[in-house]
Amino acid sequence: MSSVVQMVRNGAGGPGVLHRPVYRVLQAHHAQMETVHMRDLFAADPARFERFSLRVGALLLDYSKNRITGDTMSLLLRLAEEVDVAGWRECMFTGEKINNTENRAVLHVALRNRSNQPMRVDGEDVMPKVSAVIGRMAAFAEQVRSGEWRGYTGKRISDVVNIGIGGSDLGPRMVCQALKPYHHPQLKVHFISNVDGAHIQEALEALNPETTLFIVSSKTFATQETMINAHHAREWFLTRSLATRHIARHFVAASANRDAVAAFGIDPANMFEFWDWVGGRYSLWSAIGLSIVLAVGAERFAELLEGAHAMDRHFREAPSARNMPVILALLGVWYNNFFGAESHVVLPYDHCLRSLPAYLEQADMESNGKSVDRDGNRVDYATGQIVWGATGINGQHAFYQLLHQGTRLIPADFIVSAVPHTPDRQAHHDLLIANFLAQTEALMRGRSFEETRAQTDRFVSHKVFEGNHPSNAILLSKLTPHALGMLIALYEHKIFVQGVIWNLNSYDQWGVELGKQLAGRILPELHADAQVSGHDASTNALINYCRRMNLPRADL
Ligand code: F6P
Repeated sequence: MSSVVQMVRNGAGGPGVLHRPVYRVLQAHHAQMETVHMRDLFAADPARFERFSLRVGALLLDYSKNRITGDTMSLLLRLAEEVDVAGWRECMFTGEKINNTENRAVLHVALRNRSNQPMRVDGEDVMPKVSAVIGRMAAFAEQVRSGEWRGYTGKRISDVVNIGIGGSDLGPRMVCQALKPYHHPQLKVHFISNVDGAHIQEALEALNPETTLFIVSSKTFATQETMINAHHAREWFLTRSLATRHIARHFVAASANRDAVAAFGIDPANMFEFWDWVGGRYSLWSAIGLSIVLAVGAERFAELLEGAHAMDRHFREAPSARNMPVILALLGVWYNNFFGAESHVVLPYDHCLRSLPAYLEQADMESNGKSVDRDGNRVDYATGQIVWGATGINGQHAFYQLLHQGTRLIPADFIVSAVPHTPDRQAHHDLLIANFLAQTEALMRGRSFEETRAQTDRFVSHKVFEGNHPSNAILLSKLTPHALGMLIALYEHKIFVQGVIWNLNSYDQWGVELGKQLAGRILPELHADAQVSGHDASTNALINYCRRMNLPRADL
């Protein structure tokens, strides 16, 4: 049994990045690299792109515009070896319970396992039940898409509404947007997540109960926001359809909680199951992806799974030096733990990927935003970065000023589809690509004082670009379901590797609990008869202010 397996079974981890022998060597190397400009690195090495780029299937990663040399990469790879990324990776793929605080395996890779190999949790091969649910999702989606599945008045379904939040919203929402060119022409997909009544009201206004199908997506089937929205939708539907028996044609569920689904009134035959070894933010490949299957069909969904599986295989099999998720993770650690970078910006140059930054915010920050290690000890090094972003082109006219001339180092990921889905709009695409290329070049090269002065003699220092801002370029040959599956899995595994380096449990999320508990306590207080005084002065005053505003009674 490997030492990592032993550690996992004992519920333990190893020392994090700061406490590895290679850390001091990396620190000394960083001191040398801090003043090196990437323009000089490019000038000295015409083969830099070949050395620092990698192609895996439809994905091309150019990481040459980073503040690295061959030595940097060798040392970072040594770090990956010292923390035993390979050992932890095997633990994940073999169903060891690496989510130690919840005593769970982490096996979203099984959801897209397209090989004939079994994948086991507690000795049970989970592949038969995974395949069975995928088969049920495909059959159901086919009925809806073909028009065979009818609403309570006999009309075909025209609108699908996914009600969920967090991982039960962001993943399927992002994928449905990204695969817009593949959508069924007669089926619109909507997403309701916000508990603010304005969200559901706006969505329902445009819907016809006779032709709307609701998917209540919630792993726990206990998330308050989702449950309130689901009950609202049910009430809206019942006041129009006037019979509970019609619910069966209009409400289905994706969940791991069969009892709660039945208690809500959804026929268990209309429940699509998944399991506790699928984390919420890693669940778009599971029944939570039902909206995706409805939108693009089972074949395209299978291609998405196949893309993710191809990346899983690459991650599991490629040597670290040629392993895309490992490389991206190490570069992130380089800036996070040596340059002190606090954030990481994600910049898709593709309208269809506009929700990718929001999706990655949850995937990354809910996974690695932790300050105690696997053993519960406070870490003395920086962990998860702040992930943020927006479509690059829009960002250029908004926040890029700070990227180019601000005082902070913000590493960037540029994500681009080389071939558009709209060949008839080549002029648009050319301009998009030209801008992406120009931005990565400008961030890297900058424009020196002398170069600037050669162009103007007014406000020269205002117009200087220091450059030396690192970026990765990830090019998809085209935004197909397969390429998208690869891209998402790439980021999932990057997050995994960083979690190993920082010795974190990337698969729990205790940090979301306190707010939920306090909201539960405050909820009844909003309508309390007497002044609320059990909190701090600020919270008391705000609760009492809201009470007064919502209950305009003379005695308040
Ligand atoms: O509150 C955070 C969280 O638990 C996420 O991790 C999860 O994706 C989301 O809520 C939704 O949870 P559920 O699918 O159980 O409704």
